[in-house]
Amino acid sequence: MDDEKLGHRSQSSAPHQRINADELRHFCQLFRFFLAQQAPLNLQTVAKRVAAFVEKHSKISGRKIVLVTSGGTTVPLETQTVRFIDNFSAGTRGAISTEFFLDHGYAVIFLHRQYSLLPYSRHYSHSTNCFLDFMASDGNGGVKAPQYTPKMLQVLNKYTAVKSAGLLETISFVDVNEYLFLLREITLTLSTINERALFYLAAAVSDFYIPIGKMVHHKIQSGGEGLLKLELDQVPKVLSPLVKEWAPRAYVVSFKLETDPSILVQKAQGALKNYGHQAVIGNILSTRKHHVVLITSSEVKDVRLNEFQIAENTEIEGVFIPEIISRHDAWIRQSK
Ligand code: PMT
Repeated sequence: MDDEKLGHRSQSSAPHQRINADELRHFCQLFRFFLAQQAPLNLQTVAKRVAAFVEKHSKISGRKIVLVTSGGTTVPLETQTVRFIDNFSAGTRGAISTEFFLDHGYAVIFLHRQYSLLPYSRHYSHSTNCFLDFMASDGNGGVKAPQYTPKMLQVLNKYTAVKSAGLLETISFVDVNEYLFLLREITLTLSTINERALFYLAAAVSDFYIPIGKMVHHKIQSGGEGLLKLELDQVPKVLSPLVKEWAPRAYVVSFKLETDPSILVQKAQGALKNYGHQAVIGNILSTRKHHVVLITSSEVKDVRLNEFQIAENTEIEGVFIPEIISRHDAWIRQSK
């Protein structure tokens, strides 16, 4: 297997540094992963689409491109998958964030879990009102529920403008294997625009998986002892090679999810130190829609919605994404 397949496309700007024992272990895990696991069947098709998208937007002066990852990855238990492990993420953060990045002039590659929330369509697909109610006729040439019309029209106009300008490329994954192959492929292509690339890694990625070589082919049978014992391997942390090798000049934002508020900042700072990227958005499962912490090497900034904003259903992404964008812009300026 050549260097390029393993994700070591030459980067003239990559810093040459000694690696420590931990990094070597991670590197070996990653090496084994991409060598042993099967690439998704659509990898080459996706690669071509992404290459065309990046090339098109790279020619537009000042155009920045963000990769938004969104939703949860599954962990299949059988190769002919009947059962799998999943997580809670509905992809709300990723879908909302994508709309805000598009509002701010970014082109967006949206790498999302299949059937999770999508930008724009989320306004009706997961509304408590059926979308048909928005369109149902009143029998007199109007609609039954006109109160929804202005908002839906606004969403439709934005969607149409984004679509006609070709600003959004959506790519889906289901399991953690597909996610990692697609992430590496997209990253290597996006890295060609250097500092203009922004990575916004909001997907909830499984930490454990069953390698293809250890997975059973057929449906796991019940009976016998009545217990199901599973042994899972650790998923390689891709943030480290992403930051250090695949896209060393991009601005990278990762997310940190915890349930215990007392360890959030410390864990986020640990991630920044380990991976050497630019920012972490910390959030707690139960409060993630109205409170996040923005952490960089020099600051810890609380971003909270007040009671009025919560009552008005304000989206917190609209508050902290401009902060991310201004840091990304500073990153680009500083490189010049
Ligand atoms: O979808 P919602 O319901 O709106 O929820 C949004 C969210 C809570 C999922 C989101 O805000 C969030 O916190 N996403 C990251 C959750 C997560 O997987 O955290 P983690 O601690 O497992 O991973 C930390 C970072 O390392 C992540 O940026 C991840 O992309 C990265 N990672 C994770 C695993 C792995 N093998 N390699 C990685 O690089």
